Amino acid sequence: MEILHTAAALHAYTENCRRAGQRLALVPTMGALHAGHLQLVEAAAEACDVVIVSIFVNPTQFNNPDDFRLYPRLPEADAALLGPAGCTVLFLPSVEEMYPQPSVLHFDFGPLERVMEGAHRPGHFNGVATVVSKLFHMCRPHQAYFGQKDWQQVAVVQQLVQDLSFDLELVSFPTVREPDGLAMSSRNRRLSAEARAVAPRLYEALEQAAAAVRSGLAPAQVQQQAAAYIAAEPAFTLEYFEVADAQTLQPVATREPGRAVVLCLAAHLGGVRLIDNVVVR
Ligand code: PAJ
Repeated sequence: MEILHTAAALHAYTENCRRAGQRLALVPTMGALHAGHLQLVEAAAEACDVVIVSIFVNPTQFNNPDDFRLYPRLPEADAALLGPAGCTVLFLPSVEEMYPQPSVLHFDFGPLERVMEGAHRPGHFNGVATVVSKLFHMCRPHQAYFGQKDWQQVAVVQQLVQDLSFDLELVSFPTVREPDGLAMSSRNRRLSAEARAVAPRLYEALEQAAAAVRSGLAPAQVQQQAAAYIAAEPAFTLEYFEVADAQTLQPVATREPGRAVVLCLAAHLGGVRLIDNVVVR
């Protein structure tokens, strides 16, 4: 596995691969890798000749300075996991390399970003779209891999690919969970033992809510029940729990037959912000 640090080196490397007729996959990450990331790398390695994994804790997508400062950074451990998973190139740029000067471009994804993560983390998707666009240009991959753990991010990146005519296929994979149901996340490392013990309650709430939606309960009631279930454990502060259309991400007042909905939540637990979602098809 090669480790590259500069945009120029990545550009040159990927240009050579394309000339040689190889298929390229890009897996963008912020590191502190876990099985959720590795499933994307393994799938990319099955489908493509060259797998580029980027690890960059992107400052422009953090709206909370503490969250950025405390985000786990483990480049050596990550590198050791990536080779065996099928990664060909690890791209590890510095902040100065990615942002030689502050980016002035602004993305607006319209209704897609006025809800949930977009509404609660101002500027977040602008930062994601900026860094993802830069990575797409540096690699020009045939495929890019994303996780459904960040359902809204997949929708935003899909819009980005369409609107800017990126010539690539977006591939997404379901959320990988711990045996007790907690969605794997780099931020889980920051949970205390006490917080980790109650954390699976979020997925329990989502599963109960999914069952309630399937049984025909109105979204407003589903939302209320889920919020009450989470609030019964005082360690949680719920930021939002939404029943949304799985495609448009707009809140659903009554479920239309045949249209998938996604149940999405964000909650704070012991100083850590967690998100999760479940899709009801
Ligand atoms: P990060 O949180 O490191 O996630 C990198 C990719 O792994 C994302 O596509 C995310 O959805 C996926 N992922 C994370 N946890 C997962 C899980 N438990 N199961 C399945 N997939 C999972 O998302 C980002 O980084 C950044 O916003 C990024 C796209 C890299 C832009 O900076």
